[in-house]
Amino acid sequence: MNAQGMQILNIVLLIGVCNADLKLLQVTFRHGDRTTVAESQVYYPNDPYINKTYWPEGYGGLINQGKDRAYRLGLFLKKNYGAWLGSVYADSLFYFRSSDISRTKMTAELVAAALFPPIDIQRWNQKLNWQPIPIWNVPLIQDILFLGQFLCEKVAILRKEIETSDPYLLKRQKELAGFFEYVSEHVGINVTQQTSYYIYMHLYSQYTMGYRMPEWTKDIFPFGQFEDVAGYDYVIQSYTKEMQKYNGGMYFLSKQIFVFILTSQYTGVWIREWLRNVDNYINGTATYRALFYSGHEINIAGILNSLNVFIPHVPEFASSVILELHKYGEEYFVRALHKNLDTAVELKIPGCNGIYCHLDTFRNLFADIILENPLESCRKM
Ligand SMILES: *[C@@H]1O[C@H](CO)[C@@H](O)[C@H](O)[C@H]1NC(C)=O
Ligand SMILES: *[C@@H]1O[C@H](CO)[C@@H](O)[C@H](O)[C@H]1NC(C)=O
Ligand SMILES: *[C@@H]1O[C@H](CO)[C@@H](O)[C@H](O)[C@H]1NC(C)=O
Repeated sequence: MNAQGMQILNIVLLIGVCNADLKLLQVTFRHGDRTTVAESQVYYPNDPYINKTYWPEGYGGLINQGKDRAYRLGLFLKKNYGAWLGSVYADSLFYFRSSDISRTKMTAELVAAALFPPIDIQRWNQKLNWQPIPIWNVPLIQDILFLGQFLCEKVAILRKEIETSDPYLLKRQKELAGFFEYVSEHVGINVTQQTSYYIYMHLYSQYTMGYRMPEWTKDIFPFGQFEDVAGYDYVIQSYTKEMQKYNGGMYFLSKQIFVFILTSQYTGVWIREWLRNVDNYINGTATYRALFYSGHEINIAGILNSLNVFIPHVPEFASSVILELHKYGEEYFVRALHKNLDTAVELKIPGCNGIYCHLDTFRNLFADIILENPLESCRKM
């Protein structure tokens, strides 16, 4: 059963529940449907659509279907959280940040447009039910939050080390030899775990654009073994944390302890961001009700991995992770939700007493994956 199937067993209705105690929201989402990215073409020489360049979106561009999906995510958030957010956009109440890439910025704009159409006093054009809302970003080269995986070059080196030394991964590699051989034969290069993941993403873009998929993908794509292999890549991307879970932390050699700290800390940047937002709220430094982050599937998988709730799958376009801060009496609690397609599910974070996780417990659980200055640490890696 794929990840979506498993989660459907666990659907909750979150419409309007308990929002009276809500104090702060942090919503991270993946951009909407896009065309294939130029880089992935490199991995797939036999692509029947290799000569497509996509006008007007270009490589990696947001397509209309993706705009619609992003807008509908905004409507979903408005429906569920409108009572808390209110209907007036104000700089002091809401913050939108995106990675420095067209499709994520456009996605953020669409979510913002759905959440905050202008009310009377903000209506500046009678024909246009839209108002400008700022989307902030930092330059790619400094963006440890969204793109740490690529910024910290050492992560790639560490990954290679794990993949060539970890007994489980080596065994898995061997078991998948037939799969890799089959895919290699059809795509025109010798694929590895990581290239399979890129090719899967590439095919998924074409699939979502309605292209006819090559015959050879029939039994393994979009669901089936190809998805399993691609979805597992996020486990490898935060791998040593998973190993700790299976081996009680006893497995690691000294070098691998180092790996654990580094890889989990780079997904830990999201928990760090959340706790900073929480602290800013509690100590009155910031007045935000909600902060919205428009990023990538690696961010969704990374957050879920950090929270120890990742079920291997490829996060859908416009999927999201929602973190809520609630206050009961004088105590604060965190609730986390994951929305993949149309359903949002509450996340049961291991180590928390229930769905509402006491803030102190939450802090303690993740203290070891939070760096004081992640960008600096990454550069020193
Ligand atoms: C792509 O374009 C090149 C150069 O024009 C051509 O040789 C090749 O056959 C085309 N490939 C496909 C799949 O259309
Ligand atoms: C793939 O690997 C095989 C065996 O190592 C090699 O003979 C072949 O040339 C490789 N093919 C490509 C396209 O790199
Ligand atoms: C409030 O919390 C933020 C985030 O931890 C911190 O940087 C800031 O110094 C705190 N401000 C006060 C007044 O405590």
